Amino acid sequence: MNAERTVRAPAKINLHLGVGAPREDGYHPLLTVYQAVGLHDDLTARPSDTWSVEVEVPDWMGGIALPTVEDNIVTRAARLLARHHGLEPTGAVHVVKSIPVAGGMAGGSADAAAALVALDRLWGVQTSDDDLLRIAGELGSDVPFALVGGTALGTGRGELVAPVADTGTWWWVAVPSLDGLSTPAVYRHFDELHPDAAPEPPAADDLLAALAAGDPHALAATLRNDLQAPAIDLRPELGDLLDRGEAEGALRGLISGSGPTCVFLCESADAARAVAGAFADDSDRHPVVLVANGAVAGAHLVTYG
Ligand code: C5P
Repeated sequence: MNAERTVRAPAKINLHLGVGAPREDGYHPLLTVYQAVGLHDDLTARPSDTWSVEVEVPDWMGGIALPTVEDNIVTRAARLLARHHGLEPTGAVHVVKSIPVAGGMAGGSADAAAALVALDRLWGVQTSDDDLLRIAGELGSDVPFALVGGTALGTGRGELVAPVADTGTWWWVAVPSLDGLSTPAVYRHFDELHPDAAPEPPAADDLLAALAAGDPHALAATLRNDLQAPAIDLRPELGDLLDRGEAEGALRGLISGSGPTCVFLCESADAARAVAGAFADDSDRHPVVLVANGAVAGAHLVTYG
């Protein structure tokens, strides 16, 4: 068995989240454009005869409820990868979280992707990229993207990912909310609001052109999230938060995925710092405000040997 491995995996923002009517299996067909942004969870896997997962959360996440070892997506990732190779999962895993939990930024998916990469190396099993992506897709709709990173088109239920042209450096402010939103609940509310949704999710052609051109104003004008209205309906204060960020100078505010994290596209790094500073003045309501740029790499090793 090899020495310990640390893997860093990014949060994501959906620049476009087009949702179609639910499929027979209950999942919604998506046409989404993901961007990986510079906000990361770090996962370290060490050799051990048994299996354990420890999760370290920053103070600002407070008393957030974390899944047990059994229910943790990291354990599910380990089991699937081990089964693929006919092994028993072993290792002592330590996750340091920075991505908001249940925030719509795919923090759990990042941890799953990080676990696949770290355990593949720890166990020395050299899983092919195709097999890793397939196992990732079984773990969750966003997990393959957390492996790939960058800016990518997601289809199917989000698990089929293909890189897209992106010439910009994009600056984001993320305002997490300590009270997470349940992804299934937001999708269910989408169904209530859109009983006649078309089976085909809406396309993202103008947004893809804005990414290729690297133009922040064009990107701001074409951002779209079909889960935004249901998320705001469930949590009306999020609408006020989006208005506030735009009033402070963001080009556009957007709910990230199924929320509740609100993200704000800004024209430059300086503009992002200014918007973040305006929120920080209101630190009772928004104890943490993050500045992140995109696109960044997918899950990758940060220790070698
Ligand atoms: O795939 P994942 O486990 O991340 O999905 C979590 C939940 O989100 C699903 O159980 C489903 O309720 C909802 N979902 C959906 N359509 C998608 C992706 C997720 O309805 N394309």
